[in-house]
Amino acid sequence: MSFGLSNIFKKILPTGLFYRSLIIVAAPTIILQIIITIAFFDSIWIKANKGLTRSLVGELKTLSDIYTGKDLVQINYLTEQFKYNFDYVINIKDEKLPITVKERKYSPMDRSLRRELKSVFGNSNYWFDTIKHEDVVEVQVKSNDKIIQILFPRERIAPSSVRLFVFWITFPSLLLISIAIIFLKNQTRPIINLAEAAEKFGKGDYVSGIRPSGASEIRKAAYEFDRMAKRIDRHLKQRSQMLSGISHDLRTPLTRLKLQLAMLNQKDLSIKMSKDIDEMESMLNSYLQFAESQIQEDSVATNINKIFTEIASEKNSKNFHLDLPVQIVLVGRKNSLKRCFNNIIENGLNYAENVYVSMSKSTNKLNVFIDDDGPGIPLNQYKNVFKPFYRLDESRNLNNAGVGLGMSIAEDIVRSHGGNIELSASSKHKGLQVKISLPL
Ligand SMILES: Nc1ncnc2c1ncn2[C@@H]1O[C@H](COP(=O)(O)OP(=O)(O)OP(=O)(O)O)[C@@H](O)[C@H]1O
Ligand SMILES: [Mg+2]
Repeated sequence: MSFGLSNIFKKILPTGLFYRSLIIVAAPTIILQIIITIAFFDSIWIKANKGLTRSLVGELKTLSDIYTGKDLVQINYLTEQFKYNFDYVINIKDEKLPITVKERKYSPMDRSLRRELKSVFGNSNYWFDTIKHEDVVEVQVKSNDKIIQILFPRERIAPSSVRLFVFWITFPSLLLISIAIIFLKNQTRPIINLAEAAEKFGKGDYVSGIRPSGASEIRKAAYEFDRMAKRIDRHLKQRSQMLSGISHDLRTPLTRLKLQLAMLNQKDLSIKMSKDIDEMESMLNSYLQFAESQIQEDSVATNINKIFTEIASEKNSKNFHLDLPVQIVLVGRKNSLKRCFNNIIENGLNYAENVYVSMSKSTNKLNVFIDDDGPGIPLNQYKNVFKPFYRLDESRNLNNAGVGLGMSIAEDIVRSHGGNIELSASSKHKGLQVKISLPL
């Protein structure tokens, strides 16, 4: 039961920090005002109204009793006095009481007027109208065969302080809530900024200079996050610089070795050794490529279709088939994304015959499918092929140039864009299907 209730609450309540804090601040104020209003309305307003109405109806009864008498001089004198002193207008008519009931359904004023009139004059000897005139209430009472029509100021039965009370109860609470909104906005903004920076950093973007602001705890969190981001960034730069440095430096002795091998007399040995040197060279190139992929590149609006058409024109192969029905532009690192797609496409062209690229778009995600018609990858190797330098045994014979870094670079790039890369054997082209999803 309580589990269901808390679930309902979770669904109803806003998820954002700002709105949650606002509810925490505003809800008690609003509830308090409602309680005060109800208490006031019931105990003060309605009771005061009842008292006023009762005394007014008492006056009306006195008037009606006097008007039933025959002393015209006294009646006229009284009419004049009431007009002069109380703003009453009193008429005596030879008519019947109106039939249409003018009582408003939810008006406490009408309700207590009806009750009092009924208890004094009886069930069908009165009629009243509180709406016809703006500040005047009309009451008609039956007295013998005549009707006494009395018009009196509305304020006689309506305490005018209600409007003032409502104003003073809502105005300060609105003022309080507005002040709370301004303060809360200032307090939640630094947290939102920090969350945005963390999201950006998580996706692999470089975040520079977070300005700590807000409460001291939030300032501290921002400051520490900035320090951590800078340290990780330094570490990444150092690693790629070291990798590219080593790879670069090793190239010169390798070239020297190649030259020396060319001059070697034992040709069969020299051929075998150059093969190994070639392999080492391609490994070094891959290292360099990997190091390059780690270099910070700024995220910009990137046209994915353009990346694929560029790859297609570079490959210039009739085995590469593009099917791009939607135009996609997303914020990402263009060169990295191109390298990622290129690595997967390259694999397809190396280990299969034809490569088919297609895309689909959902509300917040782009799916890129790169299919081929090759032998695919055994299910139990799906995890392994993403490990650096991991190659399936048979591929060594097919493609000697590779070192086993292509897929891990691709995965690294996709992950750093907040996306996901998956392999499956469900391709309609009977080979491997690589599905890359990227957030839009
Ligand atoms: N489309 C594919 N079909 C069949 N096997 C594949 C396919 N793509 C990758 N593989 C297997 O996965 C292994 C790892 O691929 P990866 O791209 O990481 O390295 P590589 O292609 O061998 O070398 P590199 O890409 O660094 O030049 C490959 O050696 C290959 O055995
Ligand atoms: Mg590869």
